[in-house]
Amino acid sequence: MITVSDNAVFALSNRYFSYVFHVSPEGLLEHRYYGLPLSAPLDAPVHHQGTQREMTSNFEGEPYYNLTDTPQEYPIFGRSDYRAPAFHARNADGNSIFTLLYKSHTIKADKPKLDGLPSARGGGSQTLIIILEDALWGLTAKLHYTVYEDYGVLARSVVFENNGTRDINLEHVYSTALDLPPGDYEALHLHGTWAREFNAERMALPHGRFVIGSARGTSSAAHSPFLAVIDATATETHGRVYGTALVYSGNFSISTEVNEFEDVRILAGINPFNFNWTLAAGERFTTPEALHVFTQNGLGGMSHIWHDFVRDKISPPAFRHLPRPTYLNTWEAAYFDVNEGKVLTLADKAATLGVDMLVLDDGWFKGRRDDTTSLGDWTADPSRFPSGIPALAAKIKAKGLKFGLWFEPEMVNPDSDLFRAHPDWILHVPGRKSSLGRHQLTLDLSRAEVRDYLFDAIDSLLSCGDIGYVKWDMNRAMTEVGSAAFPPSQQAEVPHRYLLGLYDLLSRITNKYPDILFENCASGGNRFDLGMLSYMAQNWTSDNCDPIARLDIIHGASLVFPLDVCAAYIGPSPNHQNGRVSSIHTRYDAGAFCAAKGVSLSEADIDANLPALQRLMSHAKDTATDMVGGHFDRLIKTRNEVCWQYTSRDGETVYLAYFHILAAPNLPFRRAHVRGLDPLAEYILTEDKTRHQGDALMHSGMALPYVATGQVKADMRYMAKGDFSSHVFIFKKVSP
Ligand code: GLA
Repeated sequence: MITVSDNAVFALSNRYFSYVFHVSPEGLLEHRYYGLPLSAPLDAPVHHQGTQREMTSNFEGEPYYNLTDTPQEYPIFGRSDYRAPAFHARNADGNSIFTLLYKSHTIKADKPKLDGLPSARGGGSQTLIIILEDALWGLTAKLHYTVYEDYGVLARSVVFENNGTRDINLEHVYSTALDLPPGDYEALHLHGTWAREFNAERMALPHGRFVIGSARGTSSAAHSPFLAVIDATATETHGRVYGTALVYSGNFSISTEVNEFEDVRILAGINPFNFNWTLAAGERFTTPEALHVFTQNGLGGMSHIWHDFVRDKISPPAFRHLPRPTYLNTWEAAYFDVNEGKVLTLADKAATLGVDMLVLDDGWFKGRRDDTTSLGDWTADPSRFPSGIPALAAKIKAKGLKFGLWFEPEMVNPDSDLFRAHPDWILHVPGRKSSLGRHQLTLDLSRAEVRDYLFDAIDSLLSCGDIGYVKWDMNRAMTEVGSAAFPPSQQAEVPHRYLLGLYDLLSRITNKYPDILFENCASGGNRFDLGMLSYMAQNWTSDNCDPIARLDIIHGASLVFPLDVCAAYIGPSPNHQNGRVSSIHTRYDAGAFCAAKGVSLSEADIDANLPALQRLMSHAKDTATDMVGGHFDRLIKTRNEVCWQYTSRDGETVYLAYFHILAAPNLPFRRAHVRGLDPLAEYILTEDKTRHQGDALMHSGMALPYVATGQVKADMRYMAKGDFSSHVFIFKKVSP
């Protein structure tokens, strides 16, 4: 996988890609190639010739050697490259001129863990560590590159060490820089907000910089830490795609830059805005991990690579192929109006529905009757839960159900015992009134004593042994991000130190309770990223459960995330976020390919829809094993139609979900071209036992149900009448 030539050419190759760079005579790392695997990657041609250009400068006077358009591995600023750099820092002389030159390299048989940060697991991998050095200031940058035998992902990160004697102030410390040759490219990224997460936007790559990022303390949902540079002609199945994603949950930046010579630079890492880190003599700083994907097989090809990798190398291994429990969640059933009696009644409803688990969402702890109070005080409210949580969990277990519990550990309400006891435990700055979000403040997780308090509070409940699931919520963006625990010179470190603290807390808790299923949530998908998914096997996808809204949300999320990590439940109609009325079937079908499925409906709603809900939850249980580890494909997406395919991991069952948004008369007949089937096998459609040849389903397509508006004909398959209809086909493979 990793090969090195005598003249310092480095190649990382597997069956998905080759990635090649070399050391220039001056000692700089020059990028050569990233694309389909080459048979002799060390011989990858150097396309960049070097020329004398007016109004540029030559690096240290070398004729024809200016960095303005030289493709590099870890570019710096101020030495003839005028693009945004991967690295920018200030030394004790007060200037920002550094030169990171090749010193040595090592190859590790596997993948070292990153200090204090989540990172993809190794296994079947090799890691190349290139050591660069700035001799003047004693700064070392170790560039880590990991290549896997079986995944089309290249992992990169950087470790800085100050081996000099003076402080160095790190300002831009990107995890990766990828310089691509000129081409006809577009950018694809995901933008959104609360209840409208994951909108995919595709646009021509502009000259200059295009930057997405976050400065709000959480990674998303305004932008997800993902961006792809793609061929302008790329489709779901064809075209080159260079995808980049970060394993990080805080302030990030991913940018593209097209310079005057059409060279393309991608940078990804911690957002340099409002960031500064004092690297004192003898200290080390590790960047978050960046992941790159290359494929020639379009957006669907990229998604398949991400999905396999996230499932196998990011998501906690204990849940990799475990079917997720079906559940009843109390939130949209009762909101804050929960008490022991009501929860036990809902548990009975859950048992009647046939689901596996009852989840007690917000509202269970001391004094918590609405969102103005009590976050931080993680003991059961004595008036509403007099027997306490462990006893309630035991009673629910006795009904044959698992029990799950909601926490929002990182937050505190000013009206809480915790805040009254420790007003300095919040993120804040001296002399300024703190801004509130949902009436709450953010605890300062950079402080060990705050983390210890939270660990003990959560541990004292989880240790009862009857809690099988935890929803870890986080419901505000950060403001006044300062810490009473650090001196003025280190205040710009606090946003990243918060994340290091959060990851430390999550490691402690999830290591102690590896069998508890953790679900990440931040008002839905507002911190839905690969960092959080390193600790938690699933994510509450969005607070918006309207099925039509979910079509876009799932479409966007699925570009990167396997639906194994997405949770969906049947919520009320009219929907509480957008007021849309939809059938219970469409509400279920929109989440049918998400691994975690459930219901969050009032007792009255459950009673009114009981047989249908029982059927749907039984379907959810029957398909739960298939819904982990399979293949997801986006077949059709127009303004009015969506068609998705989900193929079980063993290839034996193929599901097609077709959604028709607004009814219209006299529509065309539509077909879906199914993907990845065995062309010689037959597939039986379970609903009518008809047999379909694999190649015909792929090449001729499956006729989709017709949207009935007028007369219906006996031998035709129709969608339910009216708006927002859906149909799910299930095919079973017959061995050839
Ligand atoms: C957030 C979550 C919801 C619910 C509420 C409880 O909004 O996204 O699912 O848990 O908090 O307050």
